[in-house]
Amino acid sequence: MKKMFCPVVFCCLCFWRLVVFAGTDAVKTVSAMEGDSVTLNSGLTEIKAHDIITWTVGLSKTKIAQIDKDAGISSTYDDVPDGRFRDRLKLDHQTGSLTITNTRNTDSGDYQIIIKRTSNPATYNFKVTVYARLPVPVINRNCSSSSSSSSCSLVCSSVLNVCDATLSWYAGISVLSSISVCDLSISLSLPLEVEYQDKNTYSCVLNNPISNQTTHLDINTLCHTCAGTTALMIYVCVY
Ligand SMILES: *[C@@H]1O[C@H](CO)[C@@H](O)[C@H](O)[C@H]1NC(C)=O
Ligand SMILES: *[C@@H]1O[C@H](CO)[C@@H](O)[C@H](O)[C@H]1NC(C)=O
Repeated sequence: MKKMFCPVVFCCLCFWRLVVFAGTDAVKTVSAMEGDSVTLNSGLTEIKAHDIITWTVGLSKTKIAQIDKDAGISSTYDDVPDGRFRDRLKLDHQTGSLTITNTRNTDSGDYQIIIKRTSNPATYNFKVTVYARLPVPVINRNCSSSSSSSSCSLVCSSVLNVCDATLSWYAGISVLSSISVCDLSISLSLPLEVEYQDKNTYSCVLNNPISNQTTHLDINTLCHTCAGTTALMIYVCVY
């Protein structure tokens, strides 16, 4: 009689290992654009009796939300760790999923859900990255560059206060050059030399992993700016 229980016990152990280890290994990556909402899915369709769902943030595992069915608790704790989540946490009382609204760069980081259902607690980790909204890059002629009379020196630039952005020159759909710097409050600038008669379609693109901003180059308009300025200065002096 006792022997018959062995496979059952063994299977239960297997299942327990599966739940625990599948949970701890996988890190789900979630991205959002600054200002948008991001939802961390519990993976549950309903909260059952005796379930305890706990959401934490950071390495300190600060509790930011909890559903404790038996205790009748279903709350967010948005005053911890430092009030940065105030009024921005929404807990789905049906599924236990957590939504962070109006995201900020400081919401980037590690989050964890611990699902305690009877005796099989499962842990799922999330890595949240909030990307800044990108400004539109600006193309100017570089008048201090001593380029040949048939060509025009241009520079595309952008001012950022975040990492993870790349500035590139495209000719059609081919990348000509790129620059990417990770620093605080930086201005990225990338030069391009074109011939006046060039028939390519050039564009300057600022992108991060989830979005981009593009400015198209109009050679006819931009490549006459320097001459225009000089003519104006001469006109003013003569007058
Ligand atoms: C403009 O061209 C000059 C000379 O080539 C260069 O030293 C300067 O860095 C350029 N300016 C920008 C903003 O790239
Ligand atoms: C910019 O984003 C749009 C979608 O928003 C995409 O279709 C396009 O390919 C992107 N361009 C570049 C150069 O990444």
